[in-house]
Amino acid sequence: MEYSIKTGDPSKQRSACLILGVFAKRKLSPLADSVDKVSKGHLQAILKRGDMDGESGQQLMLYDVPGVAAERVMLVGLGKPGELKRKDYAKTLNAVIKGLDAGHATDVLWGLCETEMSDLAGLAEVVRETVMLAEESLYQYTETKKPAKKNPRPLKHLSLLLHDKRHLKVAQKSLAQGEAIAKGMRLTKELGNLPGNICTPSYLADQARKLGRDYTTSLKVQVLEEKQMEKLGMGALLSVSRGSRQPAKLIVMNYQGGKPDAKPVVLVGKGLTFDAGGISIKPGPGMDEMKYDMCGGATVFGTLLACLEMRLPINLIGVVPSSENLPDGDANKPGDVVTSMSGQTIEVLNTDAEGRLILCDALTYSERFNPATVIDIATLTGACIVALGDQASGLMANHQPLADELLKAGSETGDRAWQLPLWEEYQEQLDSNFADMANIGGKGAGTITAACFLSRYTKKFKWAHLDIAGTAWKSGAAKGATGRPVPLLTRFLMGRCGQ
Ligand code: BES
Ligand code: MN
Ligand code: ZN
Repeated sequence: MEYSIKTGDPSKQRSACLILGVFAKRKLSPLADSVDKVSKGHLQAILKRGDMDGESGQQLMLYDVPGVAAERVMLVGLGKPGELKRKDYAKTLNAVIKGLDAGHATDVLWGLCETEMSDLAGLAEVVRETVMLAEESLYQYTETKKPAKKNPRPLKHLSLLLHDKRHLKVAQKSLAQGEAIAKGMRLTKELGNLPGNICTPSYLADQARKLGRDYTTSLKVQVLEEKQMEKLGMGALLSVSRGSRQPAKLIVMNYQGGKPDAKPVVLVGKGLTFDAGGISIKPGPGMDEMKYDMCGGATVFGTLLACLEMRLPINLIGVVPSSENLPDGDANKPGDVVTSMSGQTIEVLNTDAEGRLILCDALTYSERFNPATVIDIATLTGACIVALGDQASGLMANHQPLADELLKAGSETGDRAWQLPLWEEYQEQLDSNFADMANIGGKGAGTITAACFLSRYTKKFKWAHLDIAGTAWKSGAAKGATGRPVPLLTRFLMGRCGQ
């Protein structure tokens, strides 16, 4: 969809539909109030009849409003003034946008951006959020499935209407940011939703090369093949891909948006394109969903794309180790001992704890970039879903200021994270009789012991780990990838370069 910002008298602007806000009880928003005055009290008169009192989510479509150039005026309930929250706005926007997209209005004037929300910082934030939410509402997976029914007159253009002309500059910048982040999220979702037989490690590598071609001047892409990984001694990563016929890839994407000598932020994303568990095979029901085990990698793609689109002045490197985890004759067996690139040996007690095996070598590889900080993103543990559900990503870090920065970015964007401890005491759970460490930590604290494992490969830099097993995907009837935590990470990166 196309977006733009408009200012000026709302009643004079031509469009198929003008959206205006009404608060409880029957209090018009400033924009609605100005339209009411032009129409000589038409809106107030209608509200007095009692069809709508402004409760959050209510909608009322009006036709032929006197003095108004728009073909229709839709009144939208926003609840009590000052009490509207992001989640209510999201719900209302989703319902309104979906309704409009199924109806006849192709260009719409959105007059709700100047509404104050108790948990959004201000206009810039609301504009950004509006674009992201609208794109979210209109997203449809069509890669291997036809769209349900084609409306000949879908929603095409959304103009965000502002009362105050002085807000124009700020709003335009936010709009561009919102579009960039939405574009990144879209890529993340698309990759996450693709089935494992299409989205293989080679496919992800091709997508990276394509991104490199689309942004030739700013993005350098390199794909390491198994031969090169062998030379580097990546015995942990390669032990996982040995169980599959698809060759592993280590995708490296380098965006130089900042000063040449500025240390880069490195994002490492788990790109496991299908996780059957290997010899420690998973139960059948729900196994289809394990195609989303590459969503950490897809988040790296999406975040990079958002940064490229915004031309953020930052140096950012994306590293995506990609493999399948299948039970083949040459697959890892419980009890096997492998040697990681760091030289540390690992006893593979459970072949289903494969994410940490591919990540540890990618983390060691990241040392070469002399990073300002490294953040890994991974659908790493089912235990994280037990702990936090689908509300928050699990966050663990070896540097508290970094953890705080990420928590803040999460709460500002509503793409929240919640920190779990990484106390020394948990490390013992990884003790092995036959190697430097085991790849599982026993019964309790599965999310934490997975991070403890990674912490042994991240001693040389400031590091944070996001476990997105619960947040990257929604299950149930409308199952699919969510595009999280692209909003969190882009906000974090914007903060890093003062945007
Ligand atoms: N990819 C899974 C984690 C996962 C589970 C993500 C469910 C999303 C939904 C990971 O590779 C895995 O299998 N982890 C094991 C670890 C265990 C063997 C210690 C798990 O969580 O069961
Ligand atoms: Mn697994
Ligand atoms: Zn996995």
